[in-house]
Amino acid sequence: MELFDKNTRMTDLIHSNYLLLPVINRFGVRLGFGDMTVGDICADKGIDMNFFLAIVNAFHNHEYFPEEELRAFSSVLIIDYLRKSHLDFIQVRIPKIEFLLSRLVANSASDDLKVIQTFYNKYKEELIAHINDEEENAFPYVLELQKAYDLNIRPLPESVRNYSIQSFEKEHTNVDEKLFDLKNIIIKYLKPNYNDHDCNEFLFELFQFERDLQDHARIEDKILVPKVMDIEKAIKNG
Ligand SMILES: [Fe+2]
Ligand SMILES: [Fe+2]
Repeated sequence: MELFDKNTRMTDLIHSNYLLLPVINRFGVRLGFGDMTVGDICADKGIDMNFFLAIVNAFHNHEYFPEEELRAFSSVLIIDYLRKSHLDFIQVRIPKIEFLLSRLVANSASDDLKVIQTFYNKYKEELIAHINDEEENAFPYVLELQKAYDLNIRPLPESVRNYSIQSFEKEHTNVDEKLFDLKNIIIKYLKPNYNDHDCNEFLFELFQFERDLQDHARIEDKILVPKVMDIEKAIKNG
């Protein structure tokens, strides 16, 4: 299993896995690395290198998921990364998927594609509601909780005392399944009345988006939620 470390040149990291490009962008890392290593770039940009490495390695190798190590990072760091991913999904990935879908529909005579568009719209609505809920409810709660814990604030503010992460974090199964179904309808049932290139590009984008979303959900479900539950246990029962 290939793992990147502080001596890996950033150029080699991207040559190994170009899908990491949006991941490194979320840390403010952009192209033009020269021969700089991961260690050099992180020092240069003030990035927590261990967190950076844990995130890129977990994305790169699906069997690699250092739960303990990731949970040790501050919620502030984890949420910052998750929020930048949300921004990327909403500002870049979803508009791109929509552009590819509308091109596919425009260049095809098939009515199936209208059904796919309707299905996609429902999926998007659900995904955006999920993201907004995290941004407006779950994440602010976690940040307040972390602050109360770090600064030992007592009595606990009401915004922390009366809630728990389990009431906020909705499960990801529904949105995951809808995206899978969307891909599956196209792969299984599309009538051969479409432009190959447009359809392939649309599907490639959906597969990539799915991978990115799964990685994102894994950080929320397996890192953020258990970490927050530990803090809740310490702070509310202590
Ligand atoms: Fe999220
Ligand atoms: Fe989520």
